[in-house]
Amino acid sequence: MDFLVLPSGLASGNVDVPGDKSISHRALMLGAVAEGRTEVKGLLLGDDCVATLAALKAMGVRIEQPNVATAIIEGVGLHGLTRPDGDLDLGNSGTGMRLLTGLLCGQDFDSRLTGDASLSRRPMARVIKPLTLMGAAIDSADGRPPLAIQGGKRLVGITYELPVASAQVKSAILLAGLYARGETFVTEPAITRDHTERLLSAMGVSLSAESGRVRMPGQQALKATGIDVPGDLSSAAFLILAALLGDGCELLIRRVGVNPTRTGVIEILREMGAQISLENPALLGEEPAADLRVRSSVLQAIELDADRVSSAIDEFPVLFVAAAAARGVSRFSGLAELRVKESDRIAAMVQGLRALGIAATETQDGAEISGGDFTGGTIDSHGDHRVAMAFAVAATRAAGPVQIHDVQTVDTSFPGFMPCLQALGIGISRRDGAA
Ligand code: S3P
Repeated sequence: MDFLVLPSGLASGNVDVPGDKSISHRALMLGAVAEGRTEVKGLLLGDDCVATLAALKAMGVRIEQPNVATAIIEGVGLHGLTRPDGDLDLGNSGTGMRLLTGLLCGQDFDSRLTGDASLSRRPMARVIKPLTLMGAAIDSADGRPPLAIQGGKRLVGITYELPVASAQVKSAILLAGLYARGETFVTEPAITRDHTERLLSAMGVSLSAESGRVRMPGQQALKATGIDVPGDLSSAAFLILAALLGDGCELLIRRVGVNPTRTGVIEILREMGAQISLENPALLGEEPAADLRVRSSVLQAIELDADRVSSAIDEFPVLFVAAAAARGVSRFSGLAELRVKESDRIAAMVQGLRALGIAATETQDGAEISGGDFTGGTIDSHGDHRVAMAFAVAATRAAGPVQIHDVQTVDTSFPGFMPCLQALGIGISRRDGAA
């Protein structure tokens, strides 16, 4: 499936974005092993979370969905999951696979986790190593999926310094830590999203989390709670970009999560000259949210190094397009992790920007991008949802039509992306990939 985008400016308006993907995964998993009934509202029912939901159902968890954004989970307690009949297929989802690996290595049954072609290329040694230190037994082909997890292992808490800043790895260790004897202590080289810690606390788990150090005693029961998921800032980022690149447009994006471990994109865009303000701050359970008001802005180039990467880790496709539309030459470094996301995002973005007439070059851990005007052209998204959406927004400012290949994975994180842009006046349509 392709997108065809015609040059078109975004209209002013108000929009909602789907629920936060990271929080939705955690709400489903923690709700499943909590005691009691957890009602999740604002859930993202994108393909990634659907895969997690199906995996939990396959392990005996009853989950009702009175509507698409609500899940009522009958928690089975830490030891109530049952052996699935077959493999658990996590599709495209790194979060689903890494977090579930942590949860499953404390069970008394065997399980096997698989994924699609992109997920099957992604590194899993980063979770296998600490979990093995905790006593887990996980087999893989060369540190990549599928992962075969042996049940019946007794886990012990560990002290672990993460070699790479990764909320997925931190969370996998904490989920295994729930089953471990003794304390689990994780330190991270840069602060990463802390949704797991916040949700565990909300469910009555005692833990301490500050300045990149999390300490949690093991074998604590989780108590079910209501969870209200804010809109996903990572999805809102594409609309922020579209508004910034528009002509005299003002967009209000309602009820977006603004957890401080995630707001790097807002800070970086503001440094580039973006007019973004936060209104109506609110606390949804443990998570801060706000309405984002964005006005079209003239952007300036930026130099960014490793320091702020993890607070904007999923937003570099957006930031690269912003740099391409900005005045001057932007330089990004410290982005090695981007090479092991759903695609090699440094390569995919640089290749796509060049296809639209922008002077961009890759470095080993980043890119140099000269601001300019987008031409029409053809883009390969490499099956990466965020690459596809970033170029759909760039295309709104192009001199001619832009065709973007392989866009079906957009539904993993932002179902409704195309109608949302259409409602805001963007000429975007879906084509058969062969067209
Ligand atoms: C996520 C953590 C990040 C992020 C991913 C979601 C999470 O991955 O890129 O989209 O929900 O914990 P890493 O842990 O690999 O940095």
